[in-house]
Parts: sequence; structure tokens; C-alpha cells
Amino acid sequence: EGPDVIDIRALYPQSGLFTYDPGFVSTASSKSAITFIDGDEGVLLYRGYPIEQLATRCDFMEVCYLLLNGELPDSTQKNQFVTTVKNHTMLHEQLVKFFGGFRRDAHPMAVMVGVVGALSAFYHEAMDIADAIHREESAFRLIAKLPTITAMAYKYNIGQPFIYPHNDLGYTENFLYMMFATPAEKYVPNPIIARAMDRILILHADHEQNASTSTVRLAGSSGANPFACISAGIACLWGPAHGGANEACLNMLEEIGDISRINEYINRAKDKNDPFRLMGFGHRVYKNFDPRANLMRETCHEVLNELGLHNDRLFKLALELEKIALEDDYFISKKLYPNVDFYSGIVQRALGIPTSMFTSVFAMARTVGWVAQWNEMISDPEQKIGRPRQLYIGTPRRDMPKS
Ligand code: ACO
Repeated sequence: EGPDVIDIRALYPQSGLFTYDPGFVSTASSKSAITFIDGDEGVLLYRGYPIEQLATRCDFMEVCYLLLNGELPDSTQKNQFVTTVKNHTMLHEQLVKFFGGFRRDAHPMAVMVGVVGALSAFYHEAMDIADAIHREESAFRLIAKLPTITAMAYKYNIGQPFIYPHNDLGYTENFLYMMFATPAEKYVPNPIIARAMDRILILHADHEQNASTSTVRLAGSSGANPFACISAGIACLWGPAHGGANEACLNMLEEIGDISRINEYINRAKDKNDPFRLMGFGHRVYKNFDPRANLMRETCHEVLNELGLHNDRLFKLALELEKIALEDDYFISKKLYPNVDFYSGIVQRALGIPTSMFTSVFAMARTVGWVAQWNEMISDPEQKIGRPRQLYIGTPRRDMPKS
């Protein structure tokens, strides 16, 4: 499948040829040295390293360093990086008040779009995005503040007081602490839970020019404030065809409810007159398997076994759905396999994260990828404002009726 080449000279004699490629199926929007995907072979590399090696041998902070700087850190570099992130975990108190403007039952992603966007009001005047030091500082601020904002969105939603960052804890443990501690009860993160959460963050950290990253790049290409650009990325991620799939997948499993109803839903997914899709299945680029899904599946089994949840109703339902879909001719012919979100929702649920927070956790993880891609774009001397063309299908030039 390639894009159509359109000759628009009949309509606009001064114009030339351009490609029409809805959904950018085969059009590269940018050059990038950050992430490589081979969709046919199921390969995902961050800065050249296979995701399987990074997920099993690194922690999220090392992966953040790698994505931003191109190399893995040595121990001094890592300590320095972690310390700088910790210096930025607090939110300005005025920003903490911002949460109070939302309805309690607002979706956490709506709150994230607003609060992350509002960071631009705090870090704008003195910032010069042409200066690499300023860009680096924005990256640190975003990576450090996203767990605080995500946890506060949750606490606000359930009506509990905010828990401020505890910088003696690691990045992932601190996030879990801000989510689950209360003023009355200390929370000591279980290492199995912390490791599983860290893996979720690593697997979601970057994925080249997906819809939300392309949104961040397009927004940033005009020279806009980076905090506002990341907020645009969060808005895009929210959709069920993208990051919202983990939440949609769990809701779908709840709706199916019982193994006996799986075939009904499989048949609905095949019916072209029914808009229903099996959430957590299919991927634009991976057409044989999603390497992140394999790793997440492994974590899913580990976590459920460790926490004694392997008999969990939804987990059993998910495994049966996976089995039936993988053997189904329609799904095989369309190359529809479970993607990372199919398993990440189940793992997050086992970790005690409510369904409505799944996509916010994804946003927190993807922030490093967004910011690395934004930085790469701004530092490229060939960078131009993104300005796609269109294929005009409206009425040709005409004159207004004579009055
Ligand atoms: N269930 C049923 N049929 C599907 C599904 C699905 N989940 N996904 C694709 N198809 C079918 C389509 O109907 C289409 O059939 P057709 O050729 O007969 O028209 C064919 O497979 C190709 O689908 P497209 O939508 O053209 O594929 P595209 O590459 O544009 O979409 C996407 C990829 C959006 C991920 C799609 O597979 C989907 O909607 N999946 C469910 C949502 C989901 O899980 N998203 C998470 C993506 S991963 C991430 O963001 C981390």
C-alpha cells in the first residue's frame, strides 16, 4: 500500500505533484535517531538497544537518560540524573490549587491536559527554546513533575488529600507512594509491584512517530512552549485508538463479563456493519507481534502469580480471549495480535491502579519520549514548521450569484 500521487495542476496550474497518504501510512514525517521499529520482525530498539534487553537489565531512569542523551549512563551520570529529576518533583503551590478548578469526577486525562498545559504559564517568559540548557531543564521538569501530577489527578478524583513527593524513594516507588499513601497510613511499595510498574514505564517510553508524538512535534514545530506541546500530546494519547486502548480494553473485558460471551464479541469485531473493535488488538506498524506485548504478557503472569491473582475472573477471560483470537482465521488474516495495551491494563489493575488512570500512567511514561523527540526536532538545523498539504475536494472556484 502506497500513497496516491496526485497531480493538482488541473486545479492549480502553478502547483506541482504531492502525495495523498491519509493516516501517514507510508510517509515519514521526520528523521529521527531515537527509536527504531521493524513491524514485520517485531523489533523495537531505543537508541539501538533491543527493548527486551532494556526491559530486563535497566530501570526507567536509565532508559530516560538513554532516550534523551543517546547513551546509557555510567553510575556517576545516573546519580546526577536521578538527583536532578528529584530536584524538580514538586509543583508550584499555585499549580496545586489548579486541580480545585476541575469537577471531582473529571476524567484524569482531562485534568492532565489542563494541568500539564498550565505548566506553560509557570515556565514561559524566561525560557529560550533555542538554548539547549533551557530545553534540558524543561525535560527534567516534565519527567519529574508528571508522576506528581498523575498521582494528584488520582487523589483529587477520589477525594483524598494530595501526597507530596518523597525524594528518598526512587522514581517509580515515589509515584506509587504518591498514589497509595494517605496521611493516616504509610505506604511501603512492594518490590514486585514497583518492578512491574517500572517495566510498564520502560515499555511505553517511546515509540517513534505515533499519533501523540507526531502531535507534540507538529505543535512544537511552530516554536510553541514545550509544556503546552506535551499537553497536546496527552490530548492525542487519550483516544481509544491510541493510549486510551488500555482503559477501553479493560472496560471491554468487563462488558464481555464471561468466557461464554467471547464468541459473540469476536463475531461483532468481524462484522463490518458493527463499529465494535476488539480493544488491545491490532497495531499500525506491528503486523506479526508487538515485542512490548510479549514482555508485558510475561510481567502479567509474574504479577498475577506473585499476588495470588491468577484465578482473577477478568484475567482468565483475557487469556481465553487471547487464545480464541489468536486461532481465529479473520484475526490471523488481518494480522491482528494483542498489543501492549491488552496486557498493560491487566497488570495495572492487579497493581491496584483504577481503570480510569491507565492512560494517565501511559502519558507519564511517554513524556520522556515526547520530550526527547521535541528536543531532537528543535535542535535540527533543517527544522521547519510542520505544514501538511490537503487534497481539496470541495466546489471549484465559482462566482456569487448576481444580486
Ligand atoms: N478489531 C477488529 N478488527 C480490527 C481491529 C480490531 N481491534 N483492528 C483492525 N481491524 C481491522 C479493520 O476493521 C480493518 O479491516 P478491513 O481491512 O476489512 O477494513 C483492518 O483490520 C485494518 O485496520 P485499520 O484500522 O486500517 O488499521 P490501522 O493500522 O489504521 O489501525 C489500530 C491500527 C488503530 C491500532 C487498530 O488496530 C485498532 O483500532 N485497534 C484497537 C485499538 C487499540 O488496541 N489501540 C492500541 C494501539 S497500540 C498503542 O497505542 C500503544
